[in-house]
Amino acid sequence: MRDKNIISKLTVVGAGPGDPDLITLKAIKAIKGAKVILYDALVNEVLLKYASPEAELIFVGKRKGCYAYRQQQINELIVARAKSHGHVVRLKGGDPFVFGRGAEEIDYAKQFDIETYMIPGISSALAVPAYQGIPLTKRGSSESFWVITGTTKSHKLSKDVLLAAKSKATVVILMGMGKLDEIVRVFSDEGKQNVPMAVIQNGTTKNERFGVGRVETICDVVKKKQLSSPAVIVIGEVVSERTKLDSLATEFQNQSLSLTEPVEVSR
Ligand SMILES: C[S@@+](CC[C@H](N)C(=O)[O-])C[C@H]1O[C@@H](n2cnc3c(N)ncnc32)[C@H](O)[C@@H]1O
Repeated sequence: MRDKNIISKLTVVGAGPGDPDLITLKAIKAIKGAKVILYDALVNEVLLKYASPEAELIFVGKRKGCYAYRQQQINELIVARAKSHGHVVRLKGGDPFVFGRGAEEIDYAKQFDIETYMIPGISSALAVPAYQGIPLTKRGSSESFWVITGTTKSHKLSKDVLLAAKSKATVVILMGMGKLDEIVRVFSDEGKQNVPMAVIQNGTTKNERFGVGRVETICDVVKKKQLSSPAVIVIGEVVSERTKLDSLATEFQNQSLSLTEPVEVSR
């Protein structure tokens, strides 16, 4: 029997790029209040520790190349659980509105009179290069950046990569490892063989791996270092202008925050 007092609610939440500290306080509050959490493969499962012990946790991602659920099944599950349990959190890697289908799920739920909310996350597109000291813009080097998917719905390389290769912008490509040869060809055709290029796998996590070269050498680097997905590809002069960072892996690890109350800021 459905409880008439239940308020059906969906909050699409950005879990950040991998480092579990790279999440917003608002996202943690939503996780704590969830009755059901549907989470993806790129979500750091440590974050599920913030969930209530009574919450139902459902993995809906892709493992070993196989989807646990198809998109339509996820949509239907969100609606069914919101109706039966109340607050559903849909936890997604990075930012849910950056190649994350967050908007699609909200649109679907809205048709069923479910309250919908969105809590942005730190996208891998920005954070993964940042942890390697790569600024996406830098005065004198890069005035803008593009974030492009390497693989479109029809499994082709996005045509935007061709346009971006003509620009002076920093180019960040997600889901591009399967198309690395093609990407290199596109940039080479624009005379950019010598432009610096980086590939960062599992960025911001303890399994982070990094390869750097130029457009004409990156395929050899990737092969030699056996880099693969999930990875962020960065192309542009900013790659060679990396700032030297000390490792953040253990920094701040032992500091705890009270996450139930807003943090008081004295001015
Ligand atoms: C479906 S997209 C989702 C992007 C996500 N919404 C975001 O804002 O980061 C998945 C792709 O993001 C990139 N990605 C996500 N997390 C990553 C990480 N920790 N390290 C490297 N690449 C990552 C990879 O290119 C991966 O194939």
